[in-house]
Amino acid sequence: MKFYIETYGCQMNIYDSEIICSILLKAGFIKTSTLKKADIILLNTCAIRAKPEQKILNRLMKIRCLKSKLKKTNKQIKIGIVGCLATHYKKQTLEKFNFIDLIVGPDSYKNLPKMIKKLKKEPKKKEIDVRLANQEKYTKIIPSGLINRISALISIIRGCDNMCTFCIVPFSRGREKSRNPNSILKECKILYKKGYKEIILLGQNVDSYFFKPLKFFQLLELIALTVPLMRIRFLTSYPSNISKNLVEVVKKHSNISKHFHIPLQSGSTRILALMRRKYSGEEFLLIIKMIQNIIPDCSISSDIITGFCTETQEDHRETLRIMNRIKFNFSYMFKYSSRQGTYAERKLKDDVPNILKIRRLNEIISLQKAHSFYRLKENIGKIQNVLIEGISKKDDKYYYGRNYKNDIIVFPKTTSKIGSYNRIKIINSTFTTLIGVLTAEI
Ligand code: 5AD
Ligand code: SF4
Repeated sequence: MKFYIETYGCQMNIYDSEIICSILLKAGFIKTSTLKKADIILLNTCAIRAKPEQKILNRLMKIRCLKSKLKKTNKQIKIGIVGCLATHYKKQTLEKFNFIDLIVGPDSYKNLPKMIKKLKKEPKKKEIDVRLANQEKYTKIIPSGLINRISALISIIRGCDNMCTFCIVPFSRGREKSRNPNSILKECKILYKKGYKEIILLGQNVDSYFFKPLKFFQLLELIALTVPLMRIRFLTSYPSNISKNLVEVVKKHSNISKHFHIPLQSGSTRILALMRRKYSGEEFLLIIKMIQNIIPDCSISSDIITGFCTETQEDHRETLRIMNRIKFNFSYMFKYSSRQGTYAERKLKDDVPNILKIRRLNEIISLQKAHSFYRLKENIGKIQNVLIEGISKKDDKYYYGRNYKNDIIVFPKTTSKIGSYNRIKIINSTFTTLIGVLTAEI
């Protein structure tokens, strides 16, 4: 049987799609990249905001048309949704969308081969498994883990226990479960042997990692020592969980990227309390100060939500104020969208008019643009080690890569291979990218 898989949402979903591929290939399924050739089409879905959900629903409608068209030619295809929307919708989906045959949540991917085979045997039956109670960590499955030929993803902790009031993740992905460090280290070594140059450690909240007696900073140090020739990045950090120990480990090891992704969400302490975040605006500033004191040229990125329930102009100004104090290297910025089943959806009023949400969002986007430019310009004149990741999409005479802070740099192609390092002098910057020239090959 042939399967086709399409992935939406965050890097955790990209990683999970690799896990799914690995499970299905091992069970004898064949992967196809052509929709029409597939016996089963899987959409690995994201439920975090209304916009990605709508995109997936539109795509599902298109696939439904394809299914009916192919049915007329006697080809039966099955449609499955996996990932966060699967858990979010559960049985309602089957009632609402009768063309969907399979729904599988993030903790049940090991059951996919069995379930798909059942669909084949009993074509009229639907298959559903969205349980989140089984503490699944996919410890023994080695995904190909790649996002390109250079970087590989590794999930170290699944789920989230934080219960921020706006967020659906604790419902769609379940409780936190830290993975056995031995299996993480084994995966790192395999990836190194396969020729990968960079590892990106993933978790909704990496600082919560705890596998007795190991905390995240200890795991990170072990990984840095186990694969000293690989560059290591990690995301996402929950602000008040970042420890001094962690920052010291990041500083100590030259193969760990000097970059933290730390969602602010809002600068207003009143809104942060409504979001049930465990820090105030001022505490967030102190955390950033602590990091910058230890690693002065550390890159810091963030996630920000505008227009959360009851947000006033004053709250919004607080967000702008904190942004101005920190000047994040980059941010992902969103307007609040109410998610079914969350505390905010049940108990708070989504009362900021959409037009105001958009206006505030545009304001923070343009402020961030100025800050990103400011941060990028700080690199001009410096010589940096750049990991070459590929050929620039805009001009094939240029390479692109990243420095130790995760900034993207383009520079005229050198004789070095993709996956190696070049010493690059930064000579200019656009709003998003640094421009450099080779100084000496290493
Ligand atoms: N509305 C808008 N943005 C959200 N995020 C999570 N839930 C919502 C929501 N309901 C954003 C947060 C989080 C990022 C992954 O998505 O900023 O950090
Ligand atoms: Fe969602 Fe908060 Fe957990 Fe992040 S920390 S995944 S925003 S509940």
